[in-house]
Amino acid sequence: MARHASPLQSLLVDDRFDGDVYPNEPMSRHTTYRIGGPARFFVRVNSVGALTGLVDVCATEGVPWVAVGRGSNVLVADGGFAGVVVALGRDFRTTRFEDGRFLAGAGASLSSVVQDAFRRNLGGFEFAVGTPGTIGGALRMNAGSRDEWISSRVVTVTTYRPGRGLMRLRGDDIAWGYRTSSFAPDEVILECELAAEEADPFVVRDKMEANLARRQQSQPLSEPTCGSVFKNPEGASVGRLIDELGLKGTACGGACISPLHGNFIVNRGGATAADVRALMDHVRARVQEAHGIDLAYEVRLVGFDEGARG
Ligand code: EPU
Repeated sequence: MARHASPLQSLLVDDRFDGDVYPNEPMSRHTTYRIGGPARFFVRVNSVGALTGLVDVCATEGVPWVAVGRGSNVLVADGGFAGVVVALGRDFRTTRFEDGRFLAGAGASLSSVVQDAFRRNLGGFEFAVGTPGTIGGALRMNAGSRDEWISSRVVTVTTYRPGRGLMRLRGDDIAWGYRTSSFAPDEVILECELAAEEADPFVVRDKMEANLARRQQSQPLSEPTCGSVFKNPEGASVGRLIDELGLKGTACGGACISPLHGNFIVNRGGATAADVRALMDHVRARVQEAHGIDLAYEVRLVGFDEGARG
């Protein structure tokens, strides 16, 4: 080890550190967009101890860090992220069912809970069928459709925040909104309890199939995307606004506004984050001009100066 190794470097090379460390890791390998420059360190922590040790060191040393799920709602800059990207591994990926509730690790996929509920003749998660993200990501952004959100299922959430420690919050004590939650930016979601209710499996299956068919028909699910780019403004559908402005199919480099749904920008191969940003800026300017609406990003920006806007 170098004599002047920083506390962060010392932690990451320590044999006892329960995680996988990838220096200068291209984030294009960890986002559904397949876009993004290198993270200084990409670290998959496998236990609560490794997570708390890592984010504590980052906080004390002033190293920028960000927690990600499966990178399904993220656009990482071409220049990457000059800090630590934390992903949740082994101990955060389990789900179990007990006393009418799912106890799900933040790194587990939301779709695994949807499928498990169906197998157990339980309902309440059909709206999330086919959603690509993790439980942690889904909670932070209160994932859902227009009228059904994951927050309505949340009984408790366990989080960790450097300087504050572990916290167990009741779902009712969290302020949830349309694609928002009141978790602090440096608060990492570790696990949660989700309530399920008994339901007729045929009804559950029909709802899941209808939701999936609707999404397959109207969204470019087989192409690399970050899901919806913008939030729907109050009382309007941003996809429809973009469609009506004739912007579907507009391309910039390897990125293109999906001909299927106006609120999706797809990576048609080799798109850069700059290509996507150029299209986003174009859409925002056109919608502002035509409707006086300042669109807010639903996608989370990582490695850009301005960060994510509400
Ligand atoms: N529409 C158009 N043209 C388009 C796209 C949509 O005319 O290019 C019309 C549709 O025909 C429909 C209306 O706009 O009448 C609304 O579209 P859609 O049903 O696709 O719903 P959305 O509001 O665009 C929201 C969520 C999606 C979620 C769907 C279905 C947001 C920003 N989007 O989409 O969430 O899958 O409802 O529940 O809240 C995501 O968050 O990443 C996401 C995909």
